[in-house]
Amino acid sequence: MDDNMNPMRIHSIIRFACRLLLGFQSVFLRSRIRTPCLERVRGRYFLVIPEVLNPVVFRSGQYFAEVLADTSLPGPLPEHRESVALDMGTGCGICAVFAAELGYRVVGVDINPFAVRCARINILLNQLEDRIEIKHGDLFGPVSGQSFDLVLFNPPFYRGAPGSNFELAWKSLDVFERFAGGLEGILNQNGRALILLSTDGDADAMLQALGRNGLTVTLAKQKHFGNEIMTIYEIRRPEFQYQ
Ligand SMILES: C[S@@+](CC[C@H](N)C(=O)[O-])C[C@H]1O[C@@H](n2cnc3c(N)ncnc32)[C@H](O)[C@@H]1O
Repeated sequence: MDDNMNPMRIHSIIRFACRLLLGFQSVFLRSRIRTPCLERVRGRYFLVIPEVLNPVVFRSGQYFAEVLADTSLPGPLPEHRESVALDMGTGCGICAVFAAELGYRVVGVDINPFAVRCARINILLNQLEDRIEIKHGDLFGPVSGQSFDLVLFNPPFYRGAPGSNFELAWKSLDVFERFAGGLEGILNQNGRALILLSTDGDADAMLQALGRNGLTVTLAKQKHFGNEIMTIYEIRRPEFQYQ
């Protein structure tokens, strides 16, 4: 094959072009990161403050929310008991809102106190205060003793020590490993987790952490954004039974 047509080479050119485009875009996007701004996703409004990850500018939160809105993945339980969801690292609360729209009662947790305030504002803005509660704390600490039918997590993608509240959204030393270690203990027997990972980051190590904890991982949804691929994985306990 002509070396110029090598798929790896074509892929690198596409990635380079996308990064260039993102560089230009970032000049326009900067104002949406540096000041409070109102984002609209599927008819819902979200106020995002500078210390909190913007789900539209950084795309992952919007993609996760759209997957929840577009698919019945996974819908609430067919039983009469109310299904409960945990939105881990809720940020501005976007996934909590879309899980509530699916019919779940939701608890959102975040370690960033600005995210907690921001999510609470958005729950009120979307008139979902009777279905969503937002708690402050580290991982499963604020929900100890509770168990869930659905757990959502769009984790920090990169390794490193966060140097600010905002950096908690994209950098961590061991958050994913600790999350993987505690997940089985808070999932109901037929509960599932949906986790968003990106090729920008340490996705392989994160998948390995889930495997080490005996959890079953399957690919649920995937989208190519040019410079990165985001994948939503469905995680189940080994004894999960399809209804
Ligand atoms: C990538 S952001 C996702 C935000 C939001 N869910 C979204 O999709 O737009 C990751 C979130 O996890 C939170 N986080 C990081 N470490 C955490 C921890 N140990 N416990 C709880 N939340 C944490 C961050 O503060 C941040 O809001």
